Amino acid sequence: MNFSARRINALAGRLGVERYLEIGVRAGATFLDVEVPERVAVDPGFVFDTAVHANAMTRFHAITSDRYFSEFPKDGDFGIVFIDGLHVFEQVVRDLTNTLAHTTRRSAILIDDTLPDDVYSAHRQQAEAHRLRHQAGDKSNAWHGDVFKIVFLIHDFFPFLDYRTINENGNPQTLVWYGKGTARKPIYDDLEAISRMTWFDLQRHLPVLRLAKEAEAIDECCQAIAGH
Ligand SMILES: C[S@@+](CC[C@H](N)C(=O)[O-])C[C@H]1O[C@@H](n2cnc3c(N)ncnc32)[C@H](O)[C@@H]1O
Repeated sequence: MNFSARRINALAGRLGVERYLEIGVRAGATFLDVEVPERVAVDPGFVFDTAVHANAMTRFHAITSDRYFSEFPKDGDFGIVFIDGLHVFEQVVRDLTNTLAHTTRRSAILIDDTLPDDVYSAHRQQAEAHRLRHQAGDKSNAWHGDVFKIVFLIHDFFPFLDYRTINENGNPQTLVWYGKGTARKPIYDDLEAISRMTWFDLQRHLPVLRLAKEAEAIDECCQAIAGH
């Protein structure tokens, strides 16, 4: 079981989650290990034979997340949503806002790749990120895109959401839940400035990510939801 499935299953067990949505599934490395009774997978390019696993409680949609949310608006509310589709800020904004319309105050949302390794990893275009990295003599293919900006959007513009960014034992992922609506002092208070952030801006404002250990983030999320 990979780190994503481990985190999702820990949340699902404690929250008693009945329905799970994963946006961006690729080979099902996480999805197929998620232990939730009803599971929905969305990816325009699955790279495995979904028919082998499909049934009334495990459904696969080979379409983009935008199409899924527009064509299946009555698919109901999910207890956990894992956002791991196109790693470009504007798409993650749409995936998060659509997710909010398909979750409740008892839901948890996990967003992948919210802390890029370095300046190359934070480039918006994957091919260009790889080209520039290789040109600099680094053979790695690490790429996170500019998903990290979503944490600043949440911080400044979604005061009803609380979050922690898990930064150990696997990919950095931000765990988001419906909070108490405590006001936060905005860092940018400017949508355009957030959309134009660089990796260096992220370093300057790293505490905004609220880095946490996996168990701490999961505990805090579950305790907050139990208190609703
Ligand atoms: C990083 S992979 C997902 C990995 C998977 N969640 C896991 O844990 O193993 C990203 C996936 O997002 C998919 N994707 C790209 N654009 C998408 C979109 N607009 N909507 C949904 N999925 C998308 C890609 O086809 C790719 O399979």
